[in-house]
Formats: sequence, C-alpha cells, structure tokens
Amino acid sequence: MSKTTILVTGGAGFIGSNYIRWLLEADPAVSVINLDALTYAGNLENLAGLENHPRYGFLRGDICDGSKLDAQLPARPDEIVHFAAESHVDRSIEDPSAFLRTNVLGTQAILDLGRRLKVRRMVHVSTDEVYGSLGPKDAAFTESHSLRPNSPYAASKASSDLLARAAFKTHHFPVVITRCSNNYGPYQFPEKLIPLMIANALEGKSLPVYGDGKNVRDWIHVQDHARAVDLVRTRGQDGEVYNIGGRSERENIEVVSIILRSLGKPDSLIRYVQDRPGHDRRYAIDDTKIHAQLGFVPAVSFEEGLKATVRWYQDHRTWWERVRSGDYQAYYARMYGGRLSSS
Ligand SMILES: NC(=O)c1ccc[n+]([C@@H]2O[C@H](COP(=O)([O-])OP(=O)(O)OC[C@H]3O[C@@H](n4cnc5c(N)ncnc54)[C@H](O)[C@@H]3O)[C@@H](O)[C@H]2O)c1
Repeated sequence: MSKTTILVTGGAGFIGSNYIRWLLEADPAVSVINLDALTYAGNLENLAGLENHPRYGFLRGDICDGSKLDAQLPARPDEIVHFAAESHVDRSIEDPSAFLRTNVLGTQAILDLGRRLKVRRMVHVSTDEVYGSLGPKDAAFTESHSLRPNSPYAASKASSDLLARAAFKTHHFPVVITRCSNNYGPYQFPEKLIPLMIANALEGKSLPVYGDGKNVRDWIHVQDHARAVDLVRTRGQDGEVYNIGGRSERENIEVVSIILRSLGKPDSLIRYVQDRPGHDRRYAIDDTKIHAQLGFVPAVSFEEGLKATVRWYQDHRTWWERVRSGDYQAYYARMYGGRLSSS
C-alpha cells in the first residue's frame, strides 16, 4: 500500500482535529503530522487518544516560522492541508494584528514551505465569509462571486486566498482552495455561536444573541466538511476553488431556540445584545460545482447533527468546562512535556 504523509496545520483546533480523527480512520495509507502553535484555540485534548497512534505525530510550531520549519518536520510531507488560522470574527474586530500575521503571512509561509518541499498538493481551507454578505433574496455565492469581505477576519482570509491563487498562477504550485460555510459539531471552542449557546444553557446562564437574531448562516456538520476537504485533496483540480455548504440556511434565533427546546430550557434565557459592527446579514452557498465535479453531498441533516452536538456537549461537560477555565492549556505539558519539538 502506498503511503502518503500529510502535513495538517492547525490540527489542534476544531475542524483540524475532527479532520485528523476522520482521516486516520478513513485512510490506512495516510500518516499525519499535526503542526500547531497551540494558541488559545488549539487544544490537544481534542486529539486525546491519538498520542501513541503509529500514523500520527504532533509538532508544536508557528506557521509563520518559515524556513525554520523545514528542519523541524519529523518527515517530508507529500501533501499539506492548511487549517491554521485565527478564526474568531469578534476577536478580529478587537485586534486584527494576529489575523494579519497568521492568516496572511502564515499562509504565505506555508505556500513557500510547500514549494520548497515540492509537495504534490496543498489544500488551503478558507471560508464563505470572503464573499461578504447577501440580501434575503440574493442568489447564493458561487465560486466566481466577487470577494467583498466585511470583517478583518474575512479580509485576512480573502488575502490568503489571493496568495494561494498567486502561487498557482506564478509558480504552478498545486494548491486548491475550499470555501466552506459555518461548521458545528464536537470540539468547537465555546466562543462560537452553537457551543456557546449550549454551554450557557447547560449552566443556566443567559444566551447573548446579536441584534434581532435574524442573521442567516448556512450550517454544515464538521464531519461533512472533513469529508469534503478530503475529496478536494484527493480529486480536486489544481488552481480551482470549491465552495462547500451544508444546504441548511437558518436564522441564528432559530438555532438558539432549537438548542433551548432540546435542553428543556425556557426562551427567557435569550438576551438580545448590541449587534456586532459590520455583522453580515446572510451567507448562502451554491455547491453545484463540488456536487457536479466531485459528487459531494452533505450527509448529516441539520436537525440530526444539532441534536447529536447538543448531546455531545452534555456528555463532555469536563471538556468545555476545562476550556472555559483555561485548564486545557496544561494538557500539552502533561502529555508531551519535554518529549516533542516546541517553538
Ligand atoms: N469554524 C468555521 O465555521 C469555519 C468555516 C469555514 C472555514 N473555516 C476555516 O477553517 C480553518 C479552521 O477553523 P477552526 O474553526 O477549526 O479554527 P480554530 O480557531 O478552532 O483552530 C485554529 C487552529 O490553528 C492554530 N493556529 C493559530 N495560529 C497558528 C500559527 N501561527 N501557527 C500554527 N498554528 C496556529 C490554533 O492553535 C488552532 O489549533 C480556518 O482556516 C478557518 O478560517 C472555519
């Protein structure tokens, strides 16, 4: 069986960790090197149980470190899947500097690393937020929609997409871009809408909803996103962009109400708060291309996926309580102290 070594950046975050778990299970011919700086969003507990997996290795490192990384990597990767990013819109409004550093300069550093190592494929994982906002009756985003990012986060991701495009056009570097809608599922940091609402409701705290709660997002279960990214990795075309969506547009307030109902909690916990500045009204994904070319269809319905996610947060209370208290950051020292590279 031929072996493929994949460098996954940001593999200790929400989507990266779900992708690594899914990939190691789905493909016995794949080995994974997880490169992650372990920022506040990186949590090795998301990968608990894989520490001694024969096809998994972890390297603590910063994607911005450029050529220093070449010597630190434990093996030469054949491919790269690039998730590492600063990902929270509210934090980007407070202070965009880390977003520019990691999402823009860091992505360029990973593109350069991939070129030096002559990898045969890189997937650059991006977001539908690069397209901007839609009105209620506008057609969904296609891959040729113009880039009109409205938050510093989205602007930094749009910049990284353009750098990936430039690497393909200038150097024929074999990179493919994915743009996905809002993910939900296990191991999502409880500052994002769905896990925040579940955790607050479980603690009997109020549920802060921005503005009138009628902002619309398209929701996809993280396992479907993982599968789509991997289809693009294995069967996508170099230089192409693929939208990935969940075919599940919902108003935020509807999502919050479903969560409250499924936990048997009252709507009186909802607290409307001042809207986020520049808050995009609606995102919607046209997934015709990935469906027609790669046969991708989301498998998890929003209702089933959300029910399972609520159950997961109920069953993994220790996980999110440790994230909220900051205790999760001691896990790295406990599990890996002194044994692994660190930058
Ligand atoms: N969450 C979503 O709904 C969503 C939707 C579409 C696309 N995306 C994209 O998917 C990717 C992953 O998102 P997520 O929600 O898992 O994010 P996350 O914030 O949960 O995880 C990001 C990971 O990147 C790591 N990281 C940050 N800066 C780094 C650096 N300089 N060097 C190395 N590692 C670093 C963090 O430690 C963390 O483990 C991002 O690129 C994001 O833009 C996310």
